[in-house]
This record gives sequence, structure tokens and C-alpha cells, in this order.
Amino acid sequence: MSSSIQIAVVGSGYVGLVAAVCFAEMGHQVICVDNDERKVTALRAGETLIHEEFLPELLGRYRNERIRFMTDLAEATRESDAIFIAVGTPQSETGDADLSYVEAVACEIARSLNKYTVIVEKSTVPVYTNEWIRRAMERNGVPRNLFDVVSNPEFLREGTAVADFLHPDRIVVGADSERAAAILGKIYAPLTEGSYYKTSDAIPGMCNETAVPQLLFTSTKSAEIIKHASNAFLALKISFINAVSNLCEATDANVQQVAHGMGLDSRIGPKFLRPGIGYGGSCFPKDVAAFRSVADQLGVDFSLLTEVEKINANQKVRFVRKVRAALWTLRGKRLGVLGLAFKGETDDIRDSPAIELVEMLMAEGCSIVAFDPAAMERAAQVIPSGPQMTYAKDAYEAAADTDALLILTDWAEFKHLDLARLNSSMRYSILIDGRNMFDPAVMASHNFTYVSVGRPTSYPVRESVVEPALV
Ligand code: UDX
Repeated sequence: MSSSIQIAVVGSGYVGLVAAVCFAEMGHQVICVDNDERKVTALRAGETLIHEEFLPELLGRYRNERIRFMTDLAEATRESDAIFIAVGTPQSETGDADLSYVEAVACEIARSLNKYTVIVEKSTVPVYTNEWIRRAMERNGVPRNLFDVVSNPEFLREGTAVADFLHPDRIVVGADSERAAAILGKIYAPLTEGSYYKTSDAIPGMCNETAVPQLLFTSTKSAEIIKHASNAFLALKISFINAVSNLCEATDANVQQVAHGMGLDSRIGPKFLRPGIGYGGSCFPKDVAAFRSVADQLGVDFSLLTEVEKINANQKVRFVRKVRAALWTLRGKRLGVLGLAFKGETDDIRDSPAIELVEMLMAEGCSIVAFDPAAMERAAQVIPSGPQMTYAKDAYEAAADTDALLILTDWAEFKHLDLARLNSSMRYSILIDGRNMFDPAVMASHNFTYVSVGRPTSYPVRESVVEPALV
């Protein structure tokens, strides 16, 4: 394995914590800094605080050894060769990214820097942020030859973050200095030279892939734009297939067949062509808005992104309409809801379309009985239990005595539900699936009226329990 580098990661959220443990796994010495004392205490005790596969194992392997947790950024700065900034960049009211945490971290680093150090932007930031960090450092009296600012965007997905970090398609390093580029090259050498894949004491089940990722060097500005443009493009791809699914619904075509046919063209590719209730999460909605706002500020017409956002918002309105079309009226209806997280295999509810839909349906007068395998605790902080909201202990309890069951998050475990058992306890056998988790023919054979996205509704084979909707 290549030589170890002393790294500091500032921020222990999804990106920061995953990066920190993965750098340790790659053989580096890591200090993870967070100003939240409670978080640091929990992490020192081995509690990950977020639901992320393989994170507990890696934290258990390296905590208090290759990876230390502290609140003191000054000490971490003095001890490190490279400092990765992975603090939050929340969305401000105008849509652009609020960079005040990044600025505060840069100023604090500047006050303690005593030798050459690379400052790395890992948070998703708009183009020009590296310039602002440089200016902040200089304004705080740091000589130009004592630091470089590099952009090294992260492309990990929640739920598969650790595997994505250690087995990426590409590693992008935006550096305007050879010295800084060389240090980043060394940090990622275990992956880009492949030694990690040969020697690592791999975690069982993580990834069989040993393909060496491509290391791409660009200018800092290009790297900043690569991150925003990639996320905005993926969001666009999802909105595109959502719009196509609406067209399929209007023509009785099947979007699954259409997406398959499109995806076989290698120029298009099969991924991110799953229609649903719209994209959510902590990245896509925020990054599309921030990228649009960057374009606005630069006087560049990127109204395509406004359309992407419109399609995404409308997808939820259409889903409510589908529920109404299946049930006639909504007031007083009891609905089972499976899934509250913004996607499967995570407990994250930030910008979750499922949460938004539950709120929309409650506003229409429905009462909800919801189940999510991991996100209920977080959801209850946003929508507390009450006359219109109940949290169920499992999917069967959520379905019991309901007028319809809705699937709002694509948790893999929902595929293995006992359909006969679900059906038997429901008032009406109507399943409205916002994630296309089931085969319509199978649902028909289980006597469900099955409404999904961009595919013809299927009806019970034995008897017509519910007539086609009159819209
Ligand atoms: C995303 C990017 O994928 C990742 O590269 C970036 O670093 C952070 O943002 P994440 O938000 O964790 O990752 O989830 P992702 O799996 O990309 O899903 C985002 C949203 O799009 C979810 O709401 C998901 O349900 C939805 N989605 C995804 C679809 O509706 N259809 C698809 O085909 C794919």
C-alpha cells in the first residue's frame, strides 16, 4: 500500500464521515473534526449516527487508531497535510448554496495554518468557491505559498456510500497547482493504482468489483462544475423519464418497456431511468436549484433546469390525483403508506417526496398509517403521531383496514411482502405504487387493483373488485 498521509476531514455528516473512514481504510491517518461535541462523543464510542451500510464495521476497525474524532479544528489543521472541507451547504431562500459554514471553516484553518497544506473542497459548492476560500485565507494573513485550494467533488449515494467511495467510477481532482495535485494523487493512489483492491482485508459483501477508477485532473472551476452538472444531469434524466411515464399513461403504453428500450442505447444507458414520485434527498433538489441560481447570476439561460424542477413537483401532484381517481373522494379515507425515506435503504427524510405526499394527502383529509423500516423516528419529528397520522410496527399493520395501500419508498424488503396477507386485511384491495416495485400481472393474480407509474393499471383476475377509475 502507498505511503500514509495525515488527513483532516471537517464535518462528520454523510460525506465527511464516509470519507474519513474510507481514507482510514485506504491506509491514511485521519482526524475527523466536528463542532458538535455530542456527535464527537458518539463517534468516539463507535456510534455512526447515520444508517449506512458498512460504516459501523469500518468505524469499529479504525476508531481511536487510524481515525480520531475531535472538535478542535486548530489542532487538526496543525497536524494535517490535507484538510477536506465536508460541511453542509444548505439551500438559501433564493435557491443558491449557503456557504457560511465553508467560509467559517476556511477562516479558522487560516488562523492555525503553520506549514504548507492542501485545502480540499469536498462539499458540493458553486463554481468560484475555491477562489473565495483562497481570498479568505489570504485576508486572514496566510501567505500564498503556504496553501493550495483543490476541488475534489464526491459522487457517493446514500445507502451505498462506502462502496461508492471505495469503488468509484472516477475520481475528479480540480487543482491549479502541481504540488497540490501530486498530494491528492498520493491520497487516492491505493485506489487508482489498484493496491487497495489487492491487499485490502475487504468487508464481505461490499463489492466484488476491482476495476481501477480513473483519476481525472481538471482545473478547480471545471471540477466544481462537474459536480453540479452531474447531479443536475441525473435529475434531468429522472424528470425526463417521469415526463415519458406521463405520456405512457396517456397512451396505455408501458414505461418500463420504453425505459428498457431507451437504456439499451449505450449513449443513453439504463441507469436513472426509473420513473416514480419525483427525485428527492439532500442533493438533487438542492443542487439543481443551486446550479440554476449560478447560471442566473452569470446571466446564462439554463431554464431547462426550471422545467426539470416543474416536472419533479408535478409528479407528486399527479400521484395525489391517482389516489383520488382510485378512491373517488379523499376526505376521511384511511391510507396505508409504505416508505417515508427519500429512497430505499436509508433513514434520511430530507426533501423526501414520500413525506411531502403524506402531508399533501393529510391536507386532503386522509388519515395515514405509515411504516418505514428505518425512517419513522425522523419522520415523527416532522409529522408527529396524531388523529391523522399513525406509525405502524410493520407493513401488515400499516395495511390493515385501509382503503388503499401506497408505496412511496423503494425499500428492497417491500418486494418480499406476503401479498395475500396484505390483501386479506385491507378494506379495499387497492395498491398504488409510486415506485413500480411489482409486476402488474402478479398483482392482478393476487386480486389487487394495482396502479403504478407509466404502466396500465391491472385489475383482479378473479372478479372486478374495483371498476376502472372515472376521471
Ligand atoms: C445523489 C447522487 O446520485 C450522488 O452521485 C451525489 O453524490 C449525491 O446525490 P443520493 O441523493 O444519495 O445521491 O441518491 P440517488 O440514489 O441518486 O437518488 C436520488 C433521488 O432520485 C431519490 O429520491 C431516488 O428515489 C430518485 N431516483 C433515482 C428516481 O426517482 N429514479 C431513478 O431512476 C433514480
